[in-house]
Amino acid sequence: MRQSTFHVDDMAKIVSLAKRRGLIFPSSEIYGGFANSWDYGPLGVLLKENIKAAWMQSMAQDRDDVVPIDSSIILAPRVWEASGHLKNFTDPLVDCKVCHKRWRADELRDGRCPECGGEVTAARPFNLMFKTYIGPVEDEAAVAYLRPETAQGIFINFKSIMTTYRLKPPFGIAQLGKSFRNEITPGNFIFRTREFEQMEMEFFVMPGTAPEWLDYWVNERKDWYERYGLRTDNMRLREHTEDERAHYSRGTFDIEYRFPWDWGELEGIADRGDFDLTQHEEFSGEDLRYFDEATKQHIRPEVIEPAAGATRATLAFLVDAYDEEPDGDETRVVLRFHPALAPVKAAILPLQRKPELTNLAKELRSKVRRRYLTQYDETGSIGRRYRRQDEIGTPFCITPDFQSLEDSTVTVRDRDSMTQERIPIDDLTNWLEDRIENG
Ligand code: GAP
Repeated sequence: MRQSTFHVDDMAKIVSLAKRRGLIFPSSEIYGGFANSWDYGPLGVLLKENIKAAWMQSMAQDRDDVVPIDSSIILAPRVWEASGHLKNFTDPLVDCKVCHKRWRADELRDGRCPECGGEVTAARPFNLMFKTYIGPVEDEAAVAYLRPETAQGIFINFKSIMTTYRLKPPFGIAQLGKSFRNEITPGNFIFRTREFEQMEMEFFVMPGTAPEWLDYWVNERKDWYERYGLRTDNMRLREHTEDERAHYSRGTFDIEYRFPWDWGELEGIADRGDFDLTQHEEFSGEDLRYFDEATKQHIRPEVIEPAAGATRATLAFLVDAYDEEPDGDETRVVLRFHPALAPVKAAILPLQRKPELTNLAKELRSKVRRRYLTQYDETGSIGRRYRRQDEIGTPFCITPDFQSLEDSTVTVRDRDSMTQERIPIDDLTNWLEDRIENG
């Protein structure tokens, strides 16, 4: 499906297209905006939901050993004591003594302010969790936190899910949802925001088998991005050095993507060992081991965690899909999404605005839309209408023309090759299904 080797190096083009076509735009604009907050418009929601659905399908639906969960965003505050987030989930914060901008210490250039070169203060730890209060009284006893990762909602439910669903390691629990971090330096569009969505899975394995499962999940996750169109040469794998690993990790690999400004983390796959379950046992007093009939032992599983960002993946798929090619005196802008991720699967574009064609087109639309998200457009030249669909990444444009009235076929124009094929109307939905499911 991918034909282009073009890689956009100008983030402004992506931000502008996303705004112009209503995918993603600055939040709270009528109040002058709210820095680093973004809203998803109709097409942005569809893109993000398709990515999440593709993730859930490969992580749970297509497998026998992973089940989904949806836990609360605000959990008992003790959870974050146990998980180590209250103590360890910090970034080293420095202030520039000259321009007073705040930085993470690892962002400094030669130990000085990246903006003005000024001297900076000594680093002090800054906890990234968002604090709130439960109920009307704002005192210490009422403090709670918005979750900074979805993972802990899985660990605290591990034993009950395992028992209820009669699962045995190796098995996983997958969760999609919002997470919140009071980032010191959010930025690069939706790459780093304070409110974002994660797609995480905790895979519980028998002690001693973690290294092979880590390997397995690194490969699975790389394959997933490739299956949905991310180009291999825009991805790389990087192992964390010992001093950059999170407090819970025994080993982490990042899948990185070549974003327009630099390589950046797309997903981390970590070996969390039995850190989390041990901590929750200690803080809750609950025994989170299970009795293994085969070995006649109480076992505390170890955990491999593929942790991805849904909003960050949305950016990567958007960047990777963006393409420009000469089109006469103009430039054709096209988003070459995998058909399963494309917000709109098919556009129904009658060749002319004549009742016999528009009626047939509307009839076709009501048939196709039962299965797939479609758009109907009868305004402007057919060339212009194709271009409008290219810009939002619609893989197929279906056009009823005068021949359709004779032989019940329509043309289907392919977004990437721009070739047209005649397809019998009766075969259309199956034809689309084959192209959309199989890319
Ligand atoms: N449970 C492990 C965990 O949360 P992480 O590497 O901190 O690991 C996992 O986060 C993924 O979540 C990252 O790879 C990234 O895709 C996404 N992510 C993390 N912080 C983010 C932020 N501030 N904005 C957008 N996405 C973020």
